[in-house]
Parts: sequence; C-alpha cells; structure tokens
Amino acid sequence: MQINLPLACFLSIIRPPSIEIESAIFQLAPVDKMKCPFVRDKNDVGFRLYTRHNPTVYQNLAIDDDEALFASHINFHDPTVIVFHAFLEEPNFGSGIMLREAYVLRGDTNVIMVDAGRLEAGPWYFTAADNTWYIGRMAAMFIDYLVARGLNLSRTHLIGHSLGAHSAAVAGATITSGRVSRITGLDPALPLFNKVSLLQQLDPSDAEFVDVIHTDAGIFGMKRPVGHVDFYPNGGQSPQPGCELEVVIPQQLLLNKIFCSHWRSYQFYSESVLRPASFTASECRTWRDYKHGRCAAARTQYMGYAADRNSTGIYYLMTHDKSPYSIE
Ligand SMILES: *[C@@H]1O[C@H](CO)[C@@H](O)[C@H](O)[C@H]1NC(C)=O
Ligand SMILES: *[C@@H]1O[C@H](CO)[C@@H](O)[C@H](O)[C@H]1NC(C)=O
Repeated sequence: MQINLPLACFLSIIRPPSIEIESAIFQLAPVDKMKCPFVRDKNDVGFRLYTRHNPTVYQNLAIDDDEALFASHINFHDPTVIVFHAFLEEPNFGSGIMLREAYVLRGDTNVIMVDAGRLEAGPWYFTAADNTWYIGRMAAMFIDYLVARGLNLSRTHLIGHSLGAHSAAVAGATITSGRVSRITGLDPALPLFNKVSLLQQLDPSDAEFVDVIHTDAGIFGMKRPVGHVDFYPNGGQSPQPGCELEVVIPQQLLLNKIFCSHWRSYQFYSESVLRPASFTASECRTWRDYKHGRCAAARTQYMGYAADRNSTGIYYLMTHDKSPYSIE
C-alpha cells in the first residue's frame, strides 16, 4: 500500500464512511488543510510503548524502525495490548489514560497506545469516522512488522473505545500475519457505522475472540451484538447509573454530561483489569428478563479483562453508580 500520498479529507456531512483508502486518492477535495484532519503521511499514526520499566514515559515505536524497537523495553514473552482511542481523544486523554494506567499497574503487559489524535480530532466526526479505516490499516502494518520481530499474535489483544473499536476491527481484519487473539470493543461507535461493510466495523471475524461492552446503546454506541460475547451493563443504555442528568449537571463539564454513559464502557473495563473477578454477568435473553430474576440460574462469567474466551452470547449485569463500579 502506498502510504505517503496525501489522502482525501472527506469533509462531507451527507456521505457514510464507505470509501476505502485505495480509492481515496481520487477524492482529493478542495478543503482547508488547516481545518480538516486529512491524512498526510504515515507519521499521522504513532505508537507509544509503556511497560513496567517505563510506566510513565513512553517510547515511540514505528513500522520498520528496528533501532527504536530493540532499544525499547518491549518484551515479547509478555502479553501485548494495543489501545485505540476515540473521536476527540488522544492517548493522554480519558480512555487512554485509564486503560494504560490499569495495565501498567498490572505490570505484566506491553501497552501500546495508538496515537491518532490528529485524525480523530473534532468537530469533524465524518472525517474521523472515515479515518478509522486508515488508522486500522496502519496499525495492521505495524502489527505485521512486530510479528516479524517476534510478537506472538496469540498473546496480542486490541482494545478500542468508540471509533477506536472500528479502527481495531480494521486492524484485526487486515493483518496479514495471522489473527489476533482478542479484540475488546468498548461501546463501539454507532453513528455512521450502521450501514458500512463488515470489513469496516467490528464483528466476530476480526479476532479469535471479540468481546464488547455496551453502555450507551443506540446513541453513541451500537445496540446490536457485534462480538462473540456482548455485555450490557445496566441494560447497556443511557443513562448508566450515576449518569442521570440531574446527577451530572452540577459543576461538571459539558462533555462529561454528554458522554457519561459512553465513557462508562472503558471505566468498567479498566476497573476489571485490576479486579478481574468482579463484574459477574449472567447470560440472559433480555434486560427485562434479567431484571425480573428470570436468569438467576443462568450461566455466569466476568465482564471485562477476565471474560471467558470460549463463550458466546449476551450477558447482563448491574453496577454501582460510582467507582468502584463492580458489585461484589
Ligand atoms: C504464542 O503464545 C501462545 C499462547 O500463550 C503459546 O501457546 C505459543 O507457544 C506461543 N508461540 C510462540 C512461538 O512462542
Ligand atoms: C477454553 O477451551 C479450551 C479448549 O477447548 C480449554 O483448554 C480452556 O481451558 C477453555 N477456557 C476456559 C476459560 O474455559
């Protein structure tokens, strides 16, 4: 793939993100490059490594940069997680910070934060949604490079929040060296992703095991199950406990109010990284059945870090309204 061509900036507000990167060079639009986060070159997607040896200061990795890789603290005997942030975010924001800190505290994992801040910048949601394809392809090339240097895909786990879940999906689907063991989708983004091809959105074919946590279903997050296992804490919808308007309105920022439920997905997951045996969820047909106790005898498992890789189905659970969220 030719990666240093300037690609289009799709500043369209009517078109779904269905254009693939190969055809994108034909889409060069007369846009204001200062305003529109179009793809410039491969440096638009960065990879930052954190390990127990460098828990706070990251080391930059890049495709084909052996010097940086061998000088880094990466240890291919440890599992590796690769985290894809959301729209409006960058690695040092919300989901990125929480997930990274949880894994670094565990101390047994290579944590690679994908930095696509410029391509996921606001307010250009349509462009950001399109760019998930590009980010995913770049990440796939990066992962293929790491595999050639010793990364074990059976111990490689991609985690993506919101639009990041679709970037992770594209990465999983387009890796050429095999299949990653797991992708976790944290409230995968819904807007514009209802009608795109499966290649561009999260689905069970993207990894050996795909688990999904839905917390803002039908608004910012997808409602339908898209993994092998789909967890719907508190029914999966907004408002999540603690996110009711009257609760979040005082003294908080606008973003917190809008995204409170959407953000619960990574807050729950991050908590599970450090408390794997919490968040007990029951398999159940509907939230209604769950609430009425009709699934009290059903199969249970943990949501999040310790999810059962052999399982399939839809699971429900309740949480507290603030951290720690899990109900023991
Ligand atoms: C890769 O990881 C899996 C699971 O931990 C392990 O069984 C396998 O032996 C590893 N492969 C290599 C080449 O180390
Ligand atoms: C999943 O299945 C494999 C093989 O069928 C088995 O070895 C493993 O223990 C199972 N894992 C869990 C968590 O049940």
